Amino acid sequence: METIVSLCKRRGLIFQSSEVYGGLNGFWDYGPLGAELKRNIKESWWRSMTQMREDVVGLEASIIMHPRIWEASGHTSTFSDLMVDCLLTKKRFRADQVEPQSGDAYFYTGAVAGATGKESKETFSVVIATGKHVDYARKVARLFYEQRGIEAPALQGERTEPVVNSTRYNPENGGLLTEPRPFNLMLKTYVGPVESADNIAYLRPETAQAIFVQFRNVMEVARQKVPFGICQIGKAFRNEINPRNFTFRSREFEQMELEFFIRPDEAVEAICGSVARPAGPGHPGEPQPNWGWQRWHQYWVEERLRFYENIGLPRNSLVEYWQKPDELAHYARATVDLLYKFPFSKRDEKGELMGEELEGIAARSDFDLSQHQRFAGKSMAVFDEELKLAWAKLDPARQAALRESYTQARLKYLLKTGEAPEKAAAQSAAEGAGLTNGSYVPHVIEPSAGVDRLALALICNAYCEDQAPDDKGKLESRVVMRFHPRIAPVKVAVFPLLKNKPELVRKAREVRDLLRAHMSVAYDEAGAIGRRYRRQDEAGTPFGVTIDFDTLGEKGPELQDTVTLRDRDTMRQERVKIADLPALLAPRIR
Ligand code: GAP
Repeated sequence: METIVSLCKRRGLIFQSSEVYGGLNGFWDYGPLGAELKRNIKESWWRSMTQMREDVVGLEASIIMHPRIWEASGHTSTFSDLMVDCLLTKKRFRADQVEPQSGDAYFYTGAVAGATGKESKETFSVVIATGKHVDYARKVARLFYEQRGIEAPALQGERTEPVVNSTRYNPENGGLLTEPRPFNLMLKTYVGPVESADNIAYLRPETAQAIFVQFRNVMEVARQKVPFGICQIGKAFRNEINPRNFTFRSREFEQMELEFFIRPDEAVEAICGSVARPAGPGHPGEPQPNWGWQRWHQYWVEERLRFYENIGLPRNSLVEYWQKPDELAHYARATVDLLYKFPFSKRDEKGELMGEELEGIAARSDFDLSQHQRFAGKSMAVFDEELKLAWAKLDPARQAALRESYTQARLKYLLKTGEAPEKAAAQSAAEGAGLTNGSYVPHVIEPSAGVDRLALALICNAYCEDQAPDDKGKLESRVVMRFHPRIAPVKVAVFPLLKNKPELVRKAREVRDLLRAHMSVAYDEAGAIGRRYRRQDEAGTPFGVTIDFDTLGEKGPELQDTVTLRDRDTMRQERVKIADLPALLAPRIR
């Protein structure tokens, strides 16, 4: 990973934020190449999620929203990680990320100051590797009591006990950690000139909630009917306890989220007579009206896998991880995490990289819209004409069964929110009756991806070292970023063979300007041509165009206005007409 981090800095992909002031942990800046890479990622996603589809529209919402939104979504009360602090250094860890320690734990009941007799009765313990001298534990314990004002402390009540895989100790010094306690990850601010509790607002920790709260507005203007989706790309902020693995876990990052609204299965059954569930692994094909939530979920998992493959992440670098029932969020019916095998991922017992999350695809039931309906007091139900018509044609037994199933699901939700049983029973019965008139709160499938994690995965995947000939044909090692042309920061580099020949330079600039209208172009005339190729290989530029004397017609008119087109990966060169370049390159980069 160090090689990649240093390449990112050297080539202007990613810099530490505020570096001249010593940096700010968990924040990153994208340099010239990184900014292009991120734009290309977002454009590819936007294109595939909305522009290429009939059933998804876009949204761009504000980062700061009404604080009640975060109460409704559960973020105010439950968006927290358990954290522990080192009692000695105050360093903070996420409780689930503390490396387990085994060895001998030394316990102390307190300490007394040598000269003054001042006493501390605070207990403390230190774990040291079995066989390590006890003096180490005592040294750490003395430091602990010194920090509590006990000078030259005499340790009290020492006893020892073996410990196995304990996460109660700081792996860096063996000192005891605090008890785990929750830490809310939302970043707070104040809106307006007064810093009072009434003016607290949050930087959004996810883009999804804006989609839910704008669901009705968007549906009204977008002329869409369920099933349809709303997608958004934007910044999200989380005060992560332990930002780590370069940009992988940051405090400011971008998300690309789709909320795809579907009919509840009862409505599908009423309209289509039955509900289609997954019929086997793989892509289920074009969406059909009889799909239930499981088929839609499978569809979006497969669509997202195709997206990643399409921008150059091979299928075998990705892992499809189905969350186990005890890992699921309380509202989720199923969640698949798509993992990428980052170099820093943990390995399984066979030594295989297990992967780290790039994206989660969750079937979130009707929880989100229902929550906003409750908290905002505004209906989030839709009226479905098809359902109303189909319902009238159902036999009474089927009507009763579907209505009961829907009512029970609503009752379960309402009871979970703490609604009083009588009120919940009355409301769910009313909602069951609503279904019979074509009304329901849509369910949702949510593919939620991180731009920065994907950028990092693409950088890791692209990095390659191989051999390439220098100007004299001698093989030398090169670093090449094998970005897929679709997301490569720069698509083509244009080189005049020599910079001191005005005719070559003029022609090369003409070629640059011709291509600029279609794609991002780098122009480079400095140094030997081999060096220039190497620079572009390291930047991941997939194509290179060289203007030489043949281009000027010095070997005859048949080669005039032709150039060499070099492929970064195969290093093969072909002679092509300048006029053909845009048409030749355009399909390869789209
Ligand atoms: N709306 C659902 C949601 O936000 P999430 O799993 O918490 O779900 C979705 O986040 C994606 O956002 C993750 O799969 C990851 O790609 C990205 N992400 C989350 N936290 C991140 C962080 N601290 N740094 C970078 N990316 C992050």
